Amino acid sequence: MIRKPIHTYLAIAALVLISLGVIFLIIRDSGVETDDTMELIDNGVDDQNPIVDGIHVSTGLVEGEGLEEVVTNCTTCHSSKLIIQNRMGKEQWNATIRWMQETQGLWDLGEDQDIIVDYLTTNYPVFKKGRRAVLGDIEWYTLEGK
Ligand code: HEC
Repeated sequence: MIRKPIHTYLAIAALVLISLGVIFLIIRDSGVETDDTMELIDNGVDDQNPIVDGIHVSTGLVEGEGLEEVVTNCTTCHSSKLIIQNRMGKEQWNATIRWMQETQGLWDLGEDQDIIVDYLTTNYPVFKKGRRAVLGDIEWYTLEGK
């Protein structure tokens, strides 16, 4: 076997190290980001996140008893849209919460669970009809021309 001089090995080692460094930099700067729907959002009901016209602006949730608990516990992992889109009864909400606790790392809500489920079923009740009810009592108005 032909023995290569030591500096050949040193050169190879240096090359490997440089390559690893370059790969590290590429990965670090390539903007590989976590799914932003799962990013922790700092929500709250406070001066930075006010309620305007009955709507909590930063989440779009309607004002009501339990809003604070919902904002604190339910909008850190995913958008409030996921909540607003889902119309469920009490049992289904409790089952959904249990599912998130068992599989998604949702914490024990303690006494807040009832408050949250009440808020959801009160403010986002199940749609009763398969289609929208026929509108009644419509006050028609004329669109002004330009
Ligand atoms: C620890 C993180 C976490 C918290 C906190 C959390 N969820 Fe979720 N939730 C998830 C994940 C993950 C999903 C699945 C998301 C997806 O499918 O994209 C989910 C899904 C949902 C869904 C959709 C379920 C379905 O059947 O599609 C609803 C509704 C929901 N969450 C409501 C809530 C409510 C209400 C709260 C507050 C009690 C809450 N979430 C708090 C992680 C969380």
